[in-house]
Amino acid sequence: MGKLTASYSFEYEVYQSIEELSTDDAHLVTQARKATELAYAPYSNFKVGAYAQLSNGTFLTGSNQENASYPVGICAERALLAVAGQLNPILPIVSMAISYHHIGFESNTPLSPCGMCRQALQEYESRVDMPIRLLLSGMEGKVWLIKESGMLLPFSFKGDNLK
Ligand code: THU
Repeated sequence: MGKLTASYSFEYEVYQSIEELSTDDAHLVTQARKATELAYAPYSNFKVGAYAQLSNGTFLTGSNQENASYPVGICAERALLAVAGQLNPILPIVSMAISYHHIGFESNTPLSPCGMCRQALQEYESRVDMPIRLLLSGMEGKVWLIKESGMLLPFSFKGDNLK
C-alpha cells in the first residue's frame, strides 16, 4: 500500500472587536480584560486575565501569578481551572475568555494559550465531558472564538492512553 497523507484543520470565528459579539460574550471578554489587573507579573510585565462562565451560571476569574523562581509561576488559565475543579469537580465550564495586557507594548492581537494550558484545558473538557468555548483577545481589537479548546491541541496525550 502506498503512502497515506492526512491533515488536520479546524474553523474558528474572527470578530473585529467586542462590538460584534453577543452581549454575553462581550461581557466575558470585558471581564477577562479587567482580570489582567489582578495578575502578578513583575518579571514578564505580561498580565493575563481569564474569565469563565460555568454551566450553573456562575463566573470565575483567573490571572497569572509569577515567582522569582520563574518556573513556579502559573498561567491565568490553569489558575482558573484549579479553582473551578476544587469548587465543583464535575461542573462544566461553558466559555472562557482570555486576554492579556503586555505593559508598555501594544496588546491588540489575540493571545494563544501556551501548550501546558492547552493540555490542562483539554483534560478539563474530558473530565466533565463538555467542550470549553474560548474567546481570545488582547485589551482591544480582534477576538477569536474557538468552539472547543481541544481543537488547539490535536494528537494530544489523554487519560485514555494510560488504560
Ligand atoms: N501566560 C499565561 O498566563 N497564559 C498564557 O496563555 C500564556 C502565558 C503567562 C505566563 C507568564 O507569567 C507570562 O504570561 C509570560 O509568559
